[in-house]
This record gives sequence, C-alpha cells and structure tokens, in this order.
Amino acid sequence: MGIHVDEKNRIFNLCTRDASYLVRVHPRGELLQCYWGKKLEDIVPDHFMTVPFGMMSPSPDKGSFYSHGSVAREYPNYGNSDFRYPAYRVQNPNGDTITDLKYRSHAVTSGKPKLAGLPATFSSGSDGVETLDFELYDEVIGLTVHLTYSVFEDQNAIARSVRFENTGTGKLGLLSALSASVDFPGCSYDLLHLAGNFLQERDIVRESLNRGSRSVQSRRGISSHQTNPFVAILGRNADEHHGDVYGFSLVYSGNFIANVEVDEGFRTRVSMGIDPFEFSWGLEAGERFQTPECLLVYSDRGLNGMSQSYHDLFRKHLFISRFANVRRPILNNNWEATTFHFDEKKIMDIITDSADVGIELFVLDDGWFGQRNSDHSSLGDWTVNREKFPNGLAPVIEHAHRKGLQFGLWFEPEMVSPDSDLYRKNPDWCLHVQNRSRSESRHQLVLDLSNPLVCDHIVDAVSDVLSKHRISYVKWDMNRSLTEVGSATQPPERQRETAHRYVLGLYGVMERLTTRFPDVLFEGCASGGGRFDPGILYYMPQIWASDNTDDVQRIRIQYGTSLVYPPSTMVAHVTSSHGPFAGKSNATLKRKANVAMGGNFGYEMDFGRLPEAEKAEVRRQIVLYKEIASTVQFGTFHRLEDPFTTNMAGWMSVSEDGGQAVVFHCTLKRTPSSEAVWLKLKGLDADARYELVNSKEVFGSGFGMPGFGPPPGAPPAGGPPPAPFPSAAPESPIYRGDELMNRGLSIPSPFMGGDNESVLCIFRRIGG
Ligand code: DGJ
Repeated sequence: MGIHVDEKNRIFNLCTRDASYLVRVHPRGELLQCYWGKKLEDIVPDHFMTVPFGMMSPSPDKGSFYSHGSVAREYPNYGNSDFRYPAYRVQNPNGDTITDLKYRSHAVTSGKPKLAGLPATFSSGSDGVETLDFELYDEVIGLTVHLTYSVFEDQNAIARSVRFENTGTGKLGLLSALSASVDFPGCSYDLLHLAGNFLQERDIVRESLNRGSRSVQSRRGISSHQTNPFVAILGRNADEHHGDVYGFSLVYSGNFIANVEVDEGFRTRVSMGIDPFEFSWGLEAGERFQTPECLLVYSDRGLNGMSQSYHDLFRKHLFISRFANVRRPILNNNWEATTFHFDEKKIMDIITDSADVGIELFVLDDGWFGQRNSDHSSLGDWTVNREKFPNGLAPVIEHAHRKGLQFGLWFEPEMVSPDSDLYRKNPDWCLHVQNRSRSESRHQLVLDLSNPLVCDHIVDAVSDVLSKHRISYVKWDMNRSLTEVGSATQPPERQRETAHRYVLGLYGVMERLTTRFPDVLFEGCASGGGRFDPGILYYMPQIWASDNTDDVQRIRIQYGTSLVYPPSTMVAHVTSSHGPFAGKSNATLKRKANVAMGGNFGYEMDFGRLPEAEKAEVRRQIVLYKEIASTVQFGTFHRLEDPFTTNMAGWMSVSEDGGQAVVFHCTLKRTPSSEAVWLKLKGLDADARYELVNSKEVFGSGFGMPGFGPPPGAPPAGGPPPAPFPSAAPESPIYRGDELMNRGLSIPSPFMGGDNESVLCIFRRIGG
C-alpha cells in the first residue's frame, strides 16, 4: 500500500518503493510538509510535530508563535505572514487577496481520477496506484481547494494537482494557481534544467543555488525550445549515478513557471505550474478550475535513477496512444530532401527508392496542400495542391502501399497563413487584439483555439483528409510562439484566460482526433523540439526532437532530452549533409545513424541520389535497427558519458528481459590520443555472460578486445606488426557482466585502427 494514514496524529506517509513524502495536519488546520526523501518505513509521530519559530515572522493568530513564514506548507499563500513565492493568489469579492485555507477532510482511493480537460497520468485501477485527496476550505470567501496526490510506487513518483471550487456566493479571481510547491530544508542544492533554442533544444544547465529567486519559465504560449517544463533539485554531490535528485515535471504545453527561491533562512522553495504572468481566471459561484499536474520523482541513485523513473512512468501511465509500447516504423520523410520542391513523380520516386532500402513508412511533409510552394501561404487550406498532385494524394498513397510502405502526412493544424482562403473567410479566427497589428512569424498567425468553432473546424478539416485516405501516421507541426494573445470570443475581463484556454482547446482537439483515429500514429513537432513536453506526449507518443541533425549537436540534444523523456519519444533521423539543417559536420553516414539509433530511428533522404555503397550502408543500418529497436525504444536507458562536459558521449539500453544490451559511444571531436577509452557499462547482471555479437563491425581490426592489447593468439612481440589482427580476433568476444560494469569495455582510439568515431555494440546475454 502506498499511502499510510496515521488517523490519530493526522500524518500521511506517501510511500513509493524507495521514497517517502510526509504531510501532516497542524492543530491550527494547516497542511504541513514534513519530509520528502529516502523511504522512512516506520515513523515516530512526535518527531514530526514540532513547529519552528521564526524571529521576524508575524503570526496570523493573536499571541501565538505560529507563523506561516516559519513552516513548510503544502500549498502556501501570501499576505498573512509568509513572504515567499506563493502557490496561489485569489482576488476576493472585496478586492483583497488574503486567504486562509484550512484542512477539512481527506480521502484515499485506489486508482486515479481523470483531470477535467487536461492530459494526466492514469491508472488502470488495479495497478496499485492510490490517490489521496485533501479538502481545504477558506470560510471567509467560501473557497474550497482540493490537493490531490497519486502515488506510483514502482516509479518513485507522486502526481500532484489542485482543483479550486468557488463554493461561496461572490465572484473570485484566480491570479495564480500552481500545481505544486515543495519546501526543502537548507539550500545546499543545485538546480538543473533544460535550456535551449531553435536547433539547440534541451541543453543541460546546472547551477548552484544561493539566496534569491531563480525562475525557469516560458511566456511563449508553448513550452518552447528555450525552456522545458522540468527542473531538478540535486544534492551538491549528486551526479549521473549517485546522490539525491528531486525531479519536477509539469504535464502542460503552455506558459509555465518553475520558481526556485532561497530565503533569508537558507530554506529552498520550489514552486511549479502555469505561469501567473499574463494569467488570471474568473471563478463565478459554483465554478471550478483544475490545474495541470506536476510529477514529482525522487531518486537516491542520481540523475539516471530519476530519468529511469520518468521513462517508466511515462511509458506505463502517461502515453495514452495504442502505439505507446509498440515498436515504431522506420520512416523516410521527404522534408530535408526536397523541402517544398516536389511533384507527384518526385515523391513516387522517393517512395520507390525508400522501399528499395527497406523503409517501412513514407511521410509526405510540408507543401502538399493549398498553394503551398513556400512558407508564405496556405496554412489552413487542407486541400490537395493539384499542381503538384493532379490526381490527388490517392495515387501516391497507393504507390506507397504497393511498395509495402505505410503512408504518413504532415499538418500544421493550429496555424493560418494570412494568404489563405481560411484567413480571407475568417480573419477573426486567429489570436489577436483589437487595433493592434498581428505579429507574424514564418509568415503565419496562430488560430484562436480558445474558440470552440475554430477547434471544430480543425477537427473537421483534419478528419476529412484522414477519413478519405489510408493514412497511418500524422506529423503535427507547430512553428511559432503565441503573440497578441487575445480572443474575440472573451469579454475584456477574461482576456488573460486566453493562453490557458488555447492550451485547453488544443488538448480538446488532440483528444478528439486521436480518439477518432486510434490507428494513426501521431507525432508531435514544433520547429523541431519546441514543444517537447508531457502534455503533448500524452496524446502523441513521439516528437521530432530537433531540426538540427548535425551529429555532435544531435548527440547533446538527445542526451539532454533523455533526462526526462524515454528514447521511444525522441524521433531521430539521418539526413544528408546537403539538408538545410544538417550542420557542417562531415560525419559519416554510419556515425549519423549510430546517433539516430539512440532514438526512434528514420531518415530524411532522397536515397536515389546516394552512391550504391551508401545505399548498401543504409540497408545494413535498417536491418541493424530492426534487431535493436525494441531494446532502444523500451529498454532501461542509462547515460554513460556526458557530451556537455567531456569530449565523449555514451549511453546504453538494456532490454526489458535483460537479454540484449545496446551500447553507443563516440568521441565528439577527434583528438591525437592513442589511448583506448574504458567505458563502464550499467544495468547488466554482474554474474551473467554477454557476447558482443557485432564485434567485427564494432572493432573491425581486432582492437577493443577484452582488455587492451593483442588478443589471445596474436603474434608475439617482435613478430609481424601488431595491428591489425583480424584473423586473431574471436568472432564474438564474451565478457562477464561485472567485468563490463567495473572494469569497462575497452574502445580503441581511431589512431590505433579502431572505429570509435562512433560505436554501436550489441550484447547478447548468454547465461548466468
Ligand atoms: C518544421 C519541422 O521541424 C520540420 O521537420 C518540417 O516539418 C518543417 N517544419 C516543414 O515546414
């Protein structure tokens, strides 16, 4: 059982496999935080009863030493003795913002209720997930607040969310309504978050906390390239494999904030939810407001432990798609090969050549509709471009099917081009503010998804195409941030609801389309990975990680992304070096593929332009990926070498049954070093033996054998030159698990004839 309730002392111990999260009710009625960290099985209630005293802390109660500012509260307010960042603010009918929420009741249920209108983790009801709901009440204004905690034991995770109900008679205004607030004792922590930009998504940034506030937030209307709705608080000595890590991940795709504040008493408060900046929400009597949920994960095994918890949680309890745990098709997308410049013949040729190398699905990207020959027009006009496809899409789709490929199609449903029939007909259907210009980005405007009519139109337009064709996959793109976030459908006092209403509208549209077309695999995209968040992943189990396919930069993007998101979500394609965003690297096809095989693998290439040798290499890669895809996509993922702080990158996955391990390693930039690299593997069975099944491919010349130096049977010193030793290398070297994890796998330098420009090793477990 995950939730232990001590009814007498009103202490609640939310236990996961390795962690405890302790809450208690203070006699005054406050809900206080007592502890979050490594599991405490048996607690002595008295030890959690004391309330600290603060020197300069006022008290809301006459003659009392109790101060909101001295304690750690589950859902703190501002204005009556706590001066730190508040979890919520309510404008009361008389204009003030003072509240005093007191505990009223609690209930524990098995399973997890849905969150109205929002994506959220789910439970089957019989999977051990339990939910604790606290009802808090402010008697002056009649505000009821439900704090909800669902405990996922196996994943060391707790999902927190909040529901506001106006149970009074006057109108309330929510000025801020965060999803979670956690107070940590002390401030000896680091903050880690994922910062970035277009083509540079999810760089890992780690900084020491000090007094003052630090915010990670998006005000772009989307979770954004620049930030990701995730932060972690780390013990100062924590690293990839050791130490305390506290993760916060918000299941939301719009404006968000994670505020970290260290106060004058060196205490740390982390607050996360919808960004209050430009937000407010009117609550008439009887109305409710539901916050998104924040997923809290504790790991005492460093960042890898945290990532593994998120990966498992997302795969089992967040991705609603029927494809969540299905091996994804290896696809070829025409975008990098053609951009807008294609016709029926060109696309048919690409499909034919894709079939020839073993591709499983072809995706027709941007440019198939309206008058779309550049990014200046036609978004919103989802009818086939007859100049490019005089006979519609049917012949191309049939051609793909005849060649044994599934067919996928690109949409950007949330957008409208000013040069489009849709805009000419409905100029008020985009986000806009009266008497102000409409800021364009990539020559396009954003449709007002807070308007139900617009949402219905999108559902109908996309459904029309999907129901008339045999389409197995949709790439759902979104290429700009939101500006002039106002809606013609809302009165002036509700304009600041628009950004959140947009997100709710988007989720409604995604819900309807993914439910109506359950057999279509939906992929998210926002100029690459500009909206790579758990909210989108709830509906669409994979997202194009970045438009940047440069090998080194992609390695960093995928490594950073893996902090929170499992490899199955990371769409990673090999593109030719003349593609628009491929970077200047001269990486070989093999190295680019080895990088892309760390995720959900595919290509964006015109294979017809490749020399025969490269086509053969592509065929080899496709066969190889089929062999390892399940392990990569659904195995346990371990980061081994950090490309942000070293000149190397390494990661590996171990299949669910432990039978296969796939290891990637590379040196980012060649160095003159002739030393071998020893890569310590993780997650293997120490007592088992593992055969390196592709040793020839990996090590070619015979270097990189167990240990470093000539393999057994090599010519003695003084004989023929030591390298290469092809004939002496056993076909499939065998290692013990403990050797690979403790001594490591020796990877030879390229200077010594090895191929460690990048290696992809496949190990097969051969016994205990
Ligand atoms: C941005 C995406 O990231 C690309 O992959 C491509 O689909 C273009 N949009 C098309 O306009």
